[in-house]
Amino acid sequence: MKFNLVASCALGLESVVARELNNLGMADVHADNGRVKFTGDESALCRANLWLRSADRVWWSLKKFPCANFEELFLGVKSIPWPELMPVNAEFPVDAHTYKSLLTSLPAIQRTAKKSIVEVMQARYRRTVLDESGAHFPVKIFLVNDECEVLLDTSGSGLHKRGYRTWNAPAPLRETLAAGLVQLSYWNKDRVLIDPFCGSGTICIEAAMLGLNMAPGLTRKFAAEGWSFVGAQAWQNALEEAEDLFDRQTTLHIAGFDNNPKTLKLARLHLQQCGLEDRGIHFQERDVRDFSTSAKYGVVITNPPYGERLLEIEEAEDLYAVLGNLRAKLSDWSFYIISSHPEFEACFGAKAQRKRKLYNGMIACNYFQYPGPKPKN
Ligand SMILES: C[S@@+](CC[C@H](N)C(=O)[O-])C[C@H]1O[C@@H](n2cnc3c(N)ncnc32)[C@H](O)[C@@H]1O
Repeated sequence: MKFNLVASCALGLESVVARELNNLGMADVHADNGRVKFTGDESALCRANLWLRSADRVWWSLKKFPCANFEELFLGVKSIPWPELMPVNAEFPVDAHTYKSLLTSLPAIQRTAKKSIVEVMQARYRRTVLDESGAHFPVKIFLVNDECEVLLDTSGSGLHKRGYRTWNAPAPLRETLAAGLVQLSYWNKDRVLIDPFCGSGTICIEAAMLGLNMAPGLTRKFAAEGWSFVGAQAWQNALEEAEDLFDRQTTLHIAGFDNNPKTLKLARLHLQQCGLEDRGIHFQERDVRDFSTSAKYGVVITNPPYGERLLEIEEAEDLYAVLGNLRAKLSDWSFYIISSHPEFEACFGAKAQRKRKLYNGMIACNYFQYPGPKPKN
């Protein structure tokens, strides 16, 4: 079967996700605002879910139609052959999003779409009650400019849920964004990586998974695992491929520092929960002011306090100056820093070579990039 697939992602990460999809060999990759479209078969659907590091979810786009009123919504949803996709006991929650459209009430959109699917299912299966106790088929109604797109969520829970993070430190970075920060840098598995404000360790752990070619979805479940038209064999093949490609030999050079021992405990727990505790990744209590290193051509990727959520603004500015001084001393290192502070570069003491607008949750940030020289081998 050929699927029209959509990988949704945070604004600013589209090109990263598109690159990931191209590297996975997906077809018709096309980046748009907050989403990247692509096409593929059952294997593509499974592999995208298992491997995408910076996407939020993988959707199957079922149908698009003009939709300016509830009747068009009802009939458009009804025209999809639901009983060919879903068994009689399928669980199909309906969620909706609307933007610049005549239909604005999310509960009414959800109710109408749900009613429409229920009618088709009841008629085909000759049931008056659908118990919805079986496989999960999350439906999304996406209305933009009076055009309706009906999608099925193949991922289930968001792809940031790799399975290793069970407790949150204050202001943690979403795994998908942390993976994006690493992928936007020139770090590779042979280089030293330091996060001097590592908190619960997200950047270090995502870098480790990338460096070891560990599929981020290796140990989790996906909604489409229960879909008969995708099939258990496609999932099994994708899983076997991911197991084969996982590098179980290389030792990395990754360290995370933080001055809060409680969050470091979490970082160590998270590392252990993804089974990477003996692979050259270390977390240590250290104030950024005490950081020193003799390593060459290292890379700093970090998410320091912004002064919005954790510290007062002057304290954050002080820390940016400390980071700037570090960069001045470590002339062959590269620095990559995400911050929402509008005066970051002035505090850091240098203009970034590249800046990229990214969202850390709802906070508009810039990713300040200071790539150093290429390592001499
Ligand atoms: C925005 S949080 C980092 C969150 C992290 N990226 C994660 O995913 O959990 C900033 C971190 O900086 C740490 N921090 C604040 N001041 C520090 C200092 N002077 N030296 C080292 N760490 C510091 C805080 O304890 C906090 O964990």
